[in-house]
Amino acid sequence: METKRVIVDGVTEDPAFDEAVALLKAGEVVAFPTETVYGLGGIATNDAAVTAIYAAKGRPSDNPLIVHIGAFDQLERYVDNISEKAKKCMDAFWPGPLTVICHVKPGALSEKVTAGLDTVGIRMPNHPVALRLLRQLDEPVAAPSANTSGKPSPTEGVHVEEDLTGRIPLILDGGATGIGVESTVIDLTLNPPTILRPGGITKEMFEAVIGPVNEPTHIEQKAGAPKAPGMKYTHYAPDAPVLLIDNDEVAVKEALAALHADGKKVALLAPDHFGKLEADWFFTFGDGTHEQMAAHLYDALRACNATNADVVLATVTDKNDMGSAIMNRLEKSAGGHWYEG
Ligand code: TXA
Ligand code: MG
Repeated sequence: METKRVIVDGVTEDPAFDEAVALLKAGEVVAFPTETVYGLGGIATNDAAVTAIYAAKGRPSDNPLIVHIGAFDQLERYVDNISEKAKKCMDAFWPGPLTVICHVKPGALSEKVTAGLDTVGIRMPNHPVALRLLRQLDEPVAAPSANTSGKPSPTEGVHVEEDLTGRIPLILDGGATGIGVESTVIDLTLNPPTILRPGGITKEMFEAVIGPVNEPTHIEQKAGAPKAPGMKYTHYAPDAPVLLIDNDEVAVKEALAALHADGKKVALLAPDHFGKLEADWFFTFGDGTHEQMAAHLYDALRACNATNADVVLATVTDKNDMGSAIMNRLEKSAGGHWYEG
């Protein structure tokens, strides 16, 4: 299959949207940008389209997909008994990087989207290209991140091309995504509401709107059956092993020297000012603020795969606000491993 990547901005009329809509209506899949990461979309009522998504990604089909909508009035077509708290969250944060787990309306969506659960994750993304596509289509779009399963999520059109060329017909390329990590997933069918995956909408932001919410630690999530089934797979990992290290120039300098003495080639992922140290490859986390770390994280992890590094060292940050989402992804990419001198 030939894969076309077309640059679009979502503001200008573009025949690429007609083509995307036609492909989707024919049960094909199309990649498109959101404000978090690129999604690989298919119509969520069409079993064949949903099967095609899992196949293109090489993803196990027991992991449910998020359903994207472009307008509030679409919501009641797919979900039942929306709670007051769920409504408040949607009003406050949609369109935006928030996925709300609700009770699915029986029969309204392909069972392959929900992977047999009686709930569904719904999100209205805040990106001009995604919104234009969703509104023109006026159908629910199931879309996981548009990467090969297990690889870092794509934050640029070319990342999607790297992973899925030959496997999908069309990539709408709207440039770099912005936030850079996936949406917050919150389960509002639980009491208290529970964050299943941290993201751009933080615990603090929810609590200002709906009061106390639960954000289990990674350890707690591991102990029981995974609530967000995606949690049980290795995610976000480049080919070489990733080791976490404190955001400290002296510690990183010593680690580089020790690894080099061991004959290891090292890719360093860290804020700009670490660029002067003698890593074999350096991929930046920007100025090191949470915003810039999130925006650079997946591109930096992905860039490691174009090197022949033996090990990837990545500096950490605190877990306040967006730091929780960043550290969730970094810890997974490292399998929880830290550099130990
Ligand atoms: O930012 C995002 O959310 C991106 C863009 C494309 O919208 N999408 C994304 O989808 O990250 P995906 O499939 O890679 O991640 C979906 C997450 C998984 O952790 C999955 O287990 C969880 O949402 N999830 C989906 N439906 C669920 C449900 N009914 N109950 C619990 N967790 C659910
Ligand atoms: Mg994903």
